[in-house]
Amino acid sequence: MLWYDPAPSTNPFPHLLVPSSSAPSRRFHRIARRLLRPVIARRAALALLLGALLPLGTAAVRALEEVPYVATPLPVVDAILDLAGVGAGDVLFDLGSGDGRVVITAARRFGTRGVGFELDPRLVELARQHAAQEGVADAVRFEQQDLFRADLRAATVVTLYLLPDVNLALRSRLLATLRPGTRIVSHDYDMGDWRPDRQVSVAAPGKPVGLRRASDLYLWTVPADVSGRWAGRVRLDGREHPLVLELRQAWQVIEATASLDGEDLPVRSARLDGDRVGIACGEGPAALEFALRADAAGLHGRLRRADGSETEWHAARTISGPARPTAAGRPSTSG
Ligand SMILES: C[S@@+](CC[C@H](N)C(=O)[O-])C[C@H]1O[C@@H](n2cnc3c(N)ncnc32)[C@H](O)[C@@H]1O
Repeated sequence: MLWYDPAPSTNPFPHLLVPSSSAPSRRFHRIARRLLRPVIARRAALALLLGALLPLGTAAVRALEEVPYVATPLPVVDAILDLAGVGAGDVLFDLGSGDGRVVITAARRFGTRGVGFELDPRLVELARQHAAQEGVADAVRFEQQDLFRADLRAATVVTLYLLPDVNLALRSRLLATLRPGTRIVSHDYDMGDWRPDRQVSVAAPGKPVGLRRASDLYLWTVPADVSGRWAGRVRLDGREHPLVLELRQAWQVIEATASLDGEDLPVRSARLDGDRVGIACGEGPAALEFALRADAAGLHGRLRRADGSETEWHAARTISGPARPTAAGRPSTSG
């Protein structure tokens, strides 16, 4: 269901001003026009005057200066939700939520609960009206809140349509507060040397900025901090043997070394996905495969031996790496 009919225009808010013949609600467009007419007519004056004079205008002016309001075209909203793999159990936070379309579309399509944080009070009001109109007001919330101050801990999915330097300023906060496994999708801008897990380009008909009429979408899964030395035991040939894993981590990329009874074991593969750690080491009859999860208690999960037998496995961290994945983009040295 379309809410707007975005059309290329020099108007900075064409998606809010051009009602679609197929849009469900003329009332919504009337509200949008009434709320946003002053923004359009006096944007420059707002930036110069209202920020200093009116408390209500200050937030709107700061938002315009920091990241101007440009709505994500609706087909791109759908692509964002698909790339994040949004489902009914998710809690989606849109940072800089504009008219609320990402959060509201997720609630409509998947029954997802969501929160939009937005500095401009008129857009917050518009999003609330829109949510009520779309019948999802019980599932979503819009707060007039600086995204840099918002409590993000409850999110399982975070969406961004900001600017490159804002993404970079936000990056360490996302890593520090979001739980491992949380997905982040950013529209058009990446996170510098924190490389995405996936990147796609999608057609963006009616996109009011840029020449390509296309959008780049970037997906990251927040990695657990697993760097350091982990010690466990493996039962082989009827005896317990000490097994040590050393993990070095740069963002979501890990390198591993392993030793059994103090002897090096060749590592065939090591991967990290959120809080899940997969390591294959050893060869021939000594081959071992670990499928583990990282949490405060340690690494725990399943160990599969070359003969196909499986057991529970646990390792405790004996030496920690950095508290979070290094921001230097290189594996941290630990241990
Ligand atoms: C490019 S728009 C994206 C709107 C919406 N997320 C979408 O995809 O359609 C960026 C939004 O961020 C808001 N914004 C800018 N700085 C902000 C801040 N510090 N805290 C909260 N919102 C902010 C702007 O007012 C604007 O609505």
